[in-house]
Amino acid sequence: MSLVVTSIGQLVTNDPAVGDGSPLGVLTGAALVVDDAGLVAWVGPAAQAPDADARLDVDGRTVVPGFVDSHAHLVFAGDRSEEFAARMAGQAYGAGGIASTVAATRAAPDDVLRANLRRLVGEMRAGGTTTVECKSGYGLTVDDEARSLRLAGEVTAETTYLGAHVVPAEYRDDRDAYVDLVRGAMLDACAPHARWVDVFCDRGAFDADETRAILHAGMERGLLPRLHGNQLQHGPGVQVGVEVGASSVDHCTHLDDADVAALAASDTVATLLPGAEFSTRSTYPDARRLLDAGATVALATDCNPGSSYTSSMALCVALAVREMRMTPAEALWSATAGGAAALRRHDVGALRPGGRADLAVLDAPSYVHLAYRPGVPLVQRTLTAGA
Ligand code: NIG
Ligand code: FE
Repeated sequence: MSLVVTSIGQLVTNDPAVGDGSPLGVLTGAALVVDDAGLVAWVGPAAQAPDADARLDVDGRTVVPGFVDSHAHLVFAGDRSEEFAARMAGQAYGAGGIASTVAATRAAPDDVLRANLRRLVGEMRAGGTTTVECKSGYGLTVDDEARSLRLAGEVTAETTYLGAHVVPAEYRDDRDAYVDLVRGAMLDACAPHARWVDVFCDRGAFDADETRAILHAGMERGLLPRLHGNQLQHGPGVQVGVEVGASSVDHCTHLDDADVAALAASDTVATLLPGAEFSTRSTYPDARRLLDAGATVALATDCNPGSSYTSSMALCVALAVREMRMTPAEALWSATAGGAAALRRHDVGALRPGGRADLAVLDAPSYVHLAYRPGVPLVQRTLTAGA
């Protein structure tokens, strides 16, 4: 059944060929037609919209592409609110907290993990997110990593093998054996369930050589590389990512000039995760520096129980504008088209004919309200493939 979404006060298409000619391709007084396959068939002035089987009148509200959250860790059990409270009382954040979630995740039955995963995906959808990436990384055994990815695959095609999140306690005295497991038997069990391979390349996690070895092993199995880098301190993550042709290096908080230049000269997206700096009370990454250099920037939630327990892309947009020197237009682009670029997806992140009709209706007169009204649930309705 086709659908016309009409009386759109402001329509953000992310198609610079239409509307105001900006990267957001903004139309006013617009309509959008969805075909019976859930794809965008037409966008343009409401008065000229072709007929459709059904009609959704949004009464002058704003329509934006659904958020593409390209970085999330949603398969886990347990709660680390005490760790958060201790941090807010002055304790430092480190990779070590991951161990407590690993213990809770290993102990949890599938149904508990599945219920938590679905709850979080539901929150995301209610908040306007229509594509989400989901990592393993809290199992860290062959079976628990494979199980995490099987569960993730129930909710998204963007599944990421993160056996290299940290070295688990039982391998503390033999990290080489763990790296061998991650690039050997664990990869064998996980590759059929994953699209991406990721490594946490940072202090307390994996070094440059380990990261290269694991990413290459994954790539040999047909997985596409992405990584966590430069979150906790300056390190080799960005350079390794660009060298292996990673789709994205995520965090990018501590960068030197060579890192910024390498990102700008490559296809590797810099994915910024301001929820992590918010929740660890850390210095935010400098998005302005990356944008001015010509790098492609994405925004994502990093939703996880330790460093960033938010599912809200709108919060990330607001933080990026207020704390990272992005304009509201840049932040919205990065949270939609930028996320699509980080996931190498051409069918999402924009509202143009032929793309998937994934959109959020904002109860606001313009997209600027996403940052102007922080913390206010402006998403009135979310459509994925037109439904
Ligand atoms: O992206 N940086 C590594 N992993 C997560 C944190 C996970 C945790 O603390 O549980 C992140 O911030
Ligand atoms: Fe992460």
